[in-house]
Amino acid sequence: MAITLPLNDFPELSLDPSRLPRHVAIVMDGNGRWARRRGLSRNEGHRRGKDSVRAVVEAARELGIPYLTLFAFSAENWQRPSSEVNFLMQLFHRYLVTETKRLMKRGIRILALGDTERLPPRLREVLAETVTATQGNAAMTVALALSYGGRQDVVNATRQIARAVAAGKLNPDDIDQGVIDRALTTSGMPDPDLLIRTSGELRISNFFLFQLAYTELYFTDTLWPDFRERELLSALAAYQMRDRRFGALSPG
Ligand code: FPP
Repeated sequence: MAITLPLNDFPELSLDPSRLPRHVAIVMDGNGRWARRRGLSRNEGHRRGKDSVRAVVEAARELGIPYLTLFAFSAENWQRPSSEVNFLMQLFHRYLVTETKRLMKRGIRILALGDTERLPPRLREVLAETVTATQGNAAMTVALALSYGGRQDVVNATRQIARAVAAGKLNPDDIDQGVIDRALTTSGMPDPDLLIRTSGELRISNFFLFQLAYTELYFTDTLWPDFRERELLSALAAYQMRDRRFGALSPG
């Protein structure tokens, strides 16, 4: 049976609820271009981007997608001007403070991925509080990738595994994909079924690397501040058209 979500606003986009992705990961790109086209500051683009975050989280929750990862700040984004970095840190802070009640009401658990030690103390504090406050929520997990880099993730996992080997706790011959998977920051999460990147860029940009092995990739020209419920549904509809074979042959 097809469902039309969320919710009945877009009857042309019907989805099969039994074939929704378990994990959607999004590279939220294009805030700066969205703002420039309107003669606004880059920060205004980020502010509008926050509204898209809320809309997409709500829609994914209504749809029943169990995991959503948002690439909010890359390890390389620290190279941006400090005024923009500071604004983004404040924006993340404000998002967590203002959204906690709503997240609790909707049963959403927040996780943080990445080198969060680099974040400003005030943001780290509220992030830790939100992660703790929401840890018992079971309807959906929203992972915020903050100061995240895919290569750094692999490096950290390698160090962790090497330490276990050096300590005699792990035999090198027992290192398999599962061991690596559990050493990554995404340990315990399923691999993304669908990766969405907005703004027309066709790159992974050091987001998940190991985790994307069989992920379906979806690129759209829509800039992140314009990416709302309809665009998410379009991405999911495109995903449902894909034939996922994982290297095998399709049945029939
Ligand atoms: C990329 O657009 C976007 C970012 C580096 C920041 C993402 C942040 C948000 C969407 C704000 C809200 C997020 C949360 C989690 C509350 P860009 O600045 O690189 O755009 P451009 O390529 O057009 O310059």
